[in-house]
Amino acid sequence: MFSAHLIVDRDFTIGPLDRRLFGVFVEHMGRCVYTGIYEPDHPSADADGFRGDVAALTRELGATLVRYPGGNFLSGYNWEDGVGPAAERPSRLDLAWFSTESNQVGPHEFMSWCRSTGLTPMFGVNLGTRGADEARRFVEYCNHGGSSSLARLRQNHGSEAPFAVPIWCLGNEMDGPWQICRKTHEEYGRLALETAKLMRMVDPSIELAACGSSAYDMPSYGVWEDRVLEHCFEQVDYLSLHSYFVKPIHTPGGDCSTPTFWAQIETNARYIEDTVAVADAVAARRHSAKRIMLSFDEWNVWYRARHGEHLKQEGWPQAPRLLEEVYNVEDALLVGGMLSMMMNHADRLKIACLAQLVNVIGPIMTEPGGAAWRQTIFHPFALAARWAHGTVLRPQIRSPGHAHAVHGELPHLVASVVDEAASGRTALFLMNRHLSEPMDLQVSLRGLGGEGRRLVEAQQLQDEDLQACNSDEQPERVRPQPLEGVQVDGECLRVRLQPASWNVIVTEAARP
Ligand code: AHR
Repeated sequence: MFSAHLIVDRDFTIGPLDRRLFGVFVEHMGRCVYTGIYEPDHPSADADGFRGDVAALTRELGATLVRYPGGNFLSGYNWEDGVGPAAERPSRLDLAWFSTESNQVGPHEFMSWCRSTGLTPMFGVNLGTRGADEARRFVEYCNHGGSSSLARLRQNHGSEAPFAVPIWCLGNEMDGPWQICRKTHEEYGRLALETAKLMRMVDPSIELAACGSSAYDMPSYGVWEDRVLEHCFEQVDYLSLHSYFVKPIHTPGGDCSTPTFWAQIETNARYIEDTVAVADAVAARRHSAKRIMLSFDEWNVWYRARHGEHLKQEGWPQAPRLLEEVYNVEDALLVGGMLSMMMNHADRLKIACLAQLVNVIGPIMTEPGGAAWRQTIFHPFALAARWAHGTVLRPQIRSPGHAHAVHGELPHLVASVVDEAASGRTALFLMNRHLSEPMDLQVSLRGLGGEGRRLVEAQQLQDEDLQACNSDEQPERVRPQPLEGVQVDGECLRVRLQPASWNVIVTEAARP
C-alpha cells in the first residue's frame, strides 16, 4: 500500500469541458454500419432498419457527437451514391478496405439514426478522389434551406428541413501512404484552404477541421501541421489528431509490459501539447490572436486485429469482419486514463472521437441476427460521459511513481476533476497504475464547500485478471462495481483505490 494526494481548487481551472470530447466514429467499413448500427432484418430493427439494441447501447454510452462516413473510406466516397431510392443506389468497390459498399445507408438514413440516438453529426468531405466542388455541393445538399436544385433534391429525397450538419472534416489522414489519393502538405494545404472557403460561402455557420498528420510517429508530423496551417489557418477551426495505442506483440523483444502500454497516456499528452505548439507557432508568425483548437477525432486501442485478414479479405465482401478487436481490462484502464488526460487538455481539445463505435475497434459488439454487448472499454467511456460536466480543475498530484525510459518518473495516480458550479457536483476520475498495491488517496477539494459534501456515485473498474474480456457468452464478465469506503469530510475526501483500477467518484455540495 502507498499514499497519494490530490489537491484541486476551484480557483485553478483548465477550462470548460467541451462535451464533444465524448464523440465516436462510424465508418463505412467492416461491420460498423452493416450488421453494426444497421441491420433491417434484426429483431430489434426500427422502421429505418437500424438496430434498436445498438441504438440503446449508444445512448447508454453517452456519446455526444459522431464522425461519419470515414476514415479511409471517405477518400473514395461519392455522397451522391447514398441518396435517392435505396433500390437504385449503386454498389461500389471500396478501395480503402477492399470491400463492396451497397450504399443502403447514406446521409439521409444516417441523419435519422443521429436523431434517434441524439448525436451531433460531424461529416467529412472527400479530398482524396474529389475536391472543392463536390464538397461545396455536399454542404449545399445537406445544409441549404433555400430552393436551389440541390436543396430541392434533398427535399425530394424526403428531408424537407436541412440536416444542419454543424461541423465538417476536410478529408481524412491525407499524408498517409495508404490513403486513396494521398497529398503532399502543399497540395493538401491549398486544397483545404480553397475547399473550406467554398464550403463556408455555402454555409457560413459551419465549423471546419483540417487534417493533421495521421499519427504522432509519422515522419511528416510537425512539418505537415505547420505547412498545412500556413495555408488554411484563417479558414479552419480545428486540426485533427489520430492515435491508436499499441503493444508490439509482433516485434520480437518488444516491450509489451502493462506500464509501458499505459505510458501512452503521457505520449498522447505530449502529442497534444506539441500540436498546440506548432499551431501556435503558425499563429505567432501571423501575429494572430486566433487559436486553432484540436479535434482528436480517432483514438483507441488497436493492435491485435491489425494484420492480414483483419485488414483485408479476398473477393470484395460486403461487411466483412475487419478490425474486430476484443478488448480486455488492461485496455479499458488505458481508455479511462486517456479520458482523464484529454479532459486535462480541455483548454485546447474540444472534440474527440473514440474510433469506432460498433464491431470495428468498437466499445459495442454485435452478432448478425443476435446479441449486442458492451466491450470492456465501453465502461470508462460511459461513466466519464455521464459524470463529466462543467469546468475541468487543474489536478495537483503527489504520488509515488515508476520510471519510464522516455517520460521519466510517471506517477501511479492519473486524475482529472470536473466541477459543475451550478449543481455543486464534482466528479473525480482516478486511475491507480500500480499493478499490485492499493493506493490510499487523500483528495483536498478546496473551495468546494466545507459545510458538507455528500457522495453521489462511486464506481470502480478493476479485475484480478487484466486480460479478462466480455463476449457474447459472457457479456457482463467485466463491468464497473461499487467502490466502497469513500469518506467525505468537509473538503477532504479519502478513498482506497485498488491496484490497476480506474474509478469515478462524484460528490455534491449538501447545499449548492
Ligand atoms: O479507424 C480505422 C482507420 O484508421 C480509419 O479508416 C483511418 O482513418 C485510420 O487509419
